[in-house]
Amino acid sequence: MPDIEERYNQLVARLRETALLGSCGHLLGWDEQTNLPKKGAGHRAEQVALLSGLVHEKSTAPELGDMLSDLRNPEDIGGEESPQAAVVREARRQYDRAVKLPRRLVEELSRTETLSQQAWIEARKAKDFAQFLPWLEKVVALKREEADAIGSETGVKYDALLDDYEPGATTEQVQSVFGPLRDALVELVSAIRDSDKQPDISILTRSYPVDVQRQFSISAARAIGFDFDAGRLDVAAHPFCSGIGPGDCRITTRYDEHHFPGAFFGTLHEAGHGIYEQGLPAEHFGTALGHSASLGIHESQSRMWENLVGRSRAFWEHFYKPAQSAFPEALSDVSINDFYAAVNDVRPSWIRVEADEVTYNLHIMLRFELEQAIVSGDLSPADLPGVWNETFQNYFGMTPPDDALGCLQDIHWSAGLIGYFPTYALGNLYAAQFFEQAEADLGDLPEMFRKGEFAPLKSWLNEKIHQRGLQYRADRLVEIVTGKPLSAAPLLNYLHNKIDPLYGL
Ligand code: CO
Repeated sequence: MPDIEERYNQLVARLRETALLGSCGHLLGWDEQTNLPKKGAGHRAEQVALLSGLVHEKSTAPELGDMLSDLRNPEDIGGEESPQAAVVREARRQYDRAVKLPRRLVEELSRTETLSQQAWIEARKAKDFAQFLPWLEKVVALKREEADAIGSETGVKYDALLDDYEPGATTEQVQSVFGPLRDALVELVSAIRDSDKQPDISILTRSYPVDVQRQFSISAARAIGFDFDAGRLDVAAHPFCSGIGPGDCRITTRYDEHHFPGAFFGTLHEAGHGIYEQGLPAEHFGTALGHSASLGIHESQSRMWENLVGRSRAFWEHFYKPAQSAFPEALSDVSINDFYAAVNDVRPSWIRVEADEVTYNLHIMLRFELEQAIVSGDLSPADLPGVWNETFQNYFGMTPPDDALGCLQDIHWSAGLIGYFPTYALGNLYAAQFFEQAEADLGDLPEMFRKGEFAPLKSWLNEKIHQRGLQYRADRLVEIVTGKPLSAAPLLNYLHNKIDPLYGL
C-alpha cells in the first residue's frame, strides 16, 4: 500500500502542472480574441492544438488513473466532505470524462464543431434553417454518442452533458426549480406587456463618447472590487472573462457610442466573473479547491454585480451624479427616476443576448426544454423551428418572423455546447438566493451601496463562495451558504419587488 499522503501530494503536483499548461492555452485564447493580427490565425491554431494535445495527454495518462485509484477511499483522506476528498472527487470526474471518450469521437466532434459553426454562420445570414439542419443532425448524433460513452448515474442521457458545465446537477433538479419560475414569469411578462407605464429607453441610445464610457466603466468595476493590479480590461467582439491564474484575470467588453448599457453593464458582468476568479485561493491553483464551483455559480457572481447591485436604485443614487458629469450631453436633462426605469426596462424580444433580467430566464428555459428533447430523441432536429416558434409564442405571446430571430440565433448548438444553456438561468437563481442571505447576514445593503460601499458584500462573497472553490458542488454550496436548497422564491421576490412598482403592477 503506497503512502497515502505522498500519493495525494503527487496527485496535486500533477494537477497543478496540467493546469499550468492549460493556462498557457487560456492566455493564447485571450490574445486571439483581443490582439491577434489576422494573418497569425493559422499559426495560433497550431499552437493551441499542440497545447490542447499535451493537456489531453497529461489528463488521461495511466499514472494519473493509478493515483486516483490509490486515493479512491475518502476515509483515507479526511472523509467525504474534506477538502482533499473534493480534490480527488473532481480529478476523478475529469479523468473519467476524458478517458471514457474514444479518440475517434473526440476528433470527430472537434472537426464537426468547427465546420458546423461555419455552416451556422452562413445559415443564420441566409435565415435558412434547412442549410444548417444536416450539421445540427451530425452534432446531435455525436453528442448523443458522447453522452452514452460518459453515462450518468440517473441514466438520463442529457445529464451526462449537463454535468460537464454544472458538476453533479441533474435534469430533474433543474426542472423542479425552473418549473415554478417559468409559470410565474410568463404571467409577469404578460402583465408588463399590458401595462401602460413604459420607460423611455431612447435616453440610453443618445451620444455616450466611447473613451468616457471606458473610464466610467473602469471606475465602477474598480469600485465594486475588481483588482486592476491582478487583471485588465480590453476590447473584444464577444465579451468574456478569462481567469489565467492567480493574479491574472482578463476581462473584455465592447463599446457602442449610442448604447450605454452594453459596455457599462457588460463590464460589471465580466468584473463580477473576475472578482470570483480573483477570489479563488491562489495556493490551490490547479485543483478543485482553486477552481470555480460551476458555470452556474460563476454566472451568479456576474449577474449579482450586474443586476442585483448594478441595476439597483441604491447603486445609481451613488453613481448617477458622476454619470451626469461624465455624460452631460446625454443625461443632464434626465432624472434619476427616468434613468433607473430605463436601465430596468423589461420587454419581450426575439434575441436572448439582448434580453432583460425577467425575460432572459424564459429564453433559457425554452432552450433547456428543446435541447433535452433533442438529446433524448423525443424531438427530431428537423422539427426544431416549428416547436421553437410554438413554445416562444406560449412564453412571450409572439412568434419569431424568421429562424435567424428564432432557433438559429445562438452559436451554442453548432459548437456542440449542449447542456450549457441552463447554467445561465441557474446563475440568476443562485444570485438571488445568495443575495437574500447576504442581506440577512450584513444588514442594509442598499444603504451601503448608496454610500459607495461595496466591500462588505464582496468580502462576504469571498468568504462564503470564492474561498471554497469547488470543495462543494453547486447544490450543496447553496445549502451551506443559505441554509436551504435552491428555489425559485428569492429570484421571484426580487423581481417582483423591483419590477412591480416600475410598471404599476
Ligand atoms: Co457571464
